[in-house]
Amino acid sequence: MKVLVVGGGGREHAIVWKVKQSPLVNKIYCAPGNAGIAEDAECVDIAASDSNKLLKFAIKEKIDLTIVGPEAPLVNGLVDLFEENGMTAFGPSQRAAELEGSKAFCKYIMNRYDIPTADYRVFDDYETARSFLGRHNGPIVVKADGLAAGKGVIVCQNRRQSLSALHQIMKDRAFGEAGDKVLVEEMLVGDEVSVMALSDGEHFVTLSPSQDHKRIFDNDQGPNTGGMGAYAPTPHISDETMQYIEKAIIAPTIKGMALEDRPFRGVLYAGLMMTKEGPKVLEYNVRCGDPETQVILPMAESDLVEAIMAARDGALDKMAWKNRSGAAVCVVLASGGYPGPYQKGKKIHGLDHQWDDGVFVFHAGTKRQGKDIVTDGGRVLGVTALDASIPQAIDKVYKAIKWIAFDGAYYRKDIAVRALR
Ligand code: AMP
Ligand code: GLY
Repeated sequence: MKVLVVGGGGREHAIVWKVKQSPLVNKIYCAPGNAGIAEDAECVDIAASDSNKLLKFAIKEKIDLTIVGPEAPLVNGLVDLFEENGMTAFGPSQRAAELEGSKAFCKYIMNRYDIPTADYRVFDDYETARSFLGRHNGPIVVKADGLAAGKGVIVCQNRRQSLSALHQIMKDRAFGEAGDKVLVEEMLVGDEVSVMALSDGEHFVTLSPSQDHKRIFDNDQGPNTGGMGAYAPTPHISDETMQYIEKAIIAPTIKGMALEDRPFRGVLYAGLMMTKEGPKVLEYNVRCGDPETQVILPMAESDLVEAIMAARDGALDKMAWKNRSGAAVCVVLASGGYPGPYQKGKKIHGLDHQWDDGVFVFHAGTKRQGKDIVTDGGRVLGVTALDASIPQAIDKVYKAIKWIAFDGAYYRKDIAVRALR
């Protein structure tokens, strides 16, 4: 098979790395990819947002399977465009991707199909929202309805903060059109975990549960980022809890989407809060998590391409997803200043180190400049270590990361430490 992976971050590098191990595959392209992906696949200079160029390329190269990494092309209908033109692309249709594209739609599905989530209200009018928030002075969460690159959620401690968040979203239009509507949500408290399921629209398999680290500084301090590290599996989810999550959350969502005539084929990512009353959904994403994928795929024994083809054929009930024993930890190496402004073009040293078995360096924001590889984004690399246990994987990953250096490099020192508490 010839496979095309769309995207160019750490998640896509992990996908390319895993696809490369499949005996079903003999050629991998990635659009646009990055300097690390270029070692494992042929990168083509087409942006993930350029649907028409991607389609033309796929037709010309007779691509058998296109795997879409990021949410924006899915929400914009890339998979529909490919399928209308007789090409196989894996990911939800535009109508199914609305689960991530609109938080109001996501809440509608959860309410209609009795999926545990925070209580909420939707407002499309600033004054009505303001008067609602004015009557409430406790902690509350204010969210822009649409896609806001992971930044449209503001967790507020009191009325002053919530009114300011509302103003930012609906008046200052900080997230553009994503702020046409706002959701106001009850604040949930607990440990956050990520559960991803691969679905064919009817059946599904769940991947290893994992935990992201969203804040920039150790001990979960500072602003939210795209994710500073992850580990899997997480001890916050026992086998019993996982069964409950499958039964009470994933299954009714897949079933509900089919009943709504929006069958969900792709990776359904549930962001969950483990509250005192049990797991509740914070949000759905319609693609693999980043950086969760950088630990989930190294943990997987199963062939990703075989699973995706089974999903395409509606045959996931005949497939078991197998994980390795042990644990994986990924630490993100970021540019100094991220998630605020940062510089690019810093030469990265140490990438040619002879890594121990079970160490993988996934590239996110990198590019080649002459004979050097330089930084080209906020999150630069995701260093993953696979070992027999979480403490061993932590030890291995932090030993490995010391070999890599660039001007201003920053990483958290406490990834996966929560798992030990
Ligand atoms: P999202 O972009 O929807 O994943 O939200 C970003 C982050 O905001 C989540 O990972 C949570 O940490 C936090 N968050 C979202 N909704 C809630 C909620 N209802 N209660 C508490 N925290 C929340
Ligand atoms: N790790 C969070 C996300 O992928 O949205």
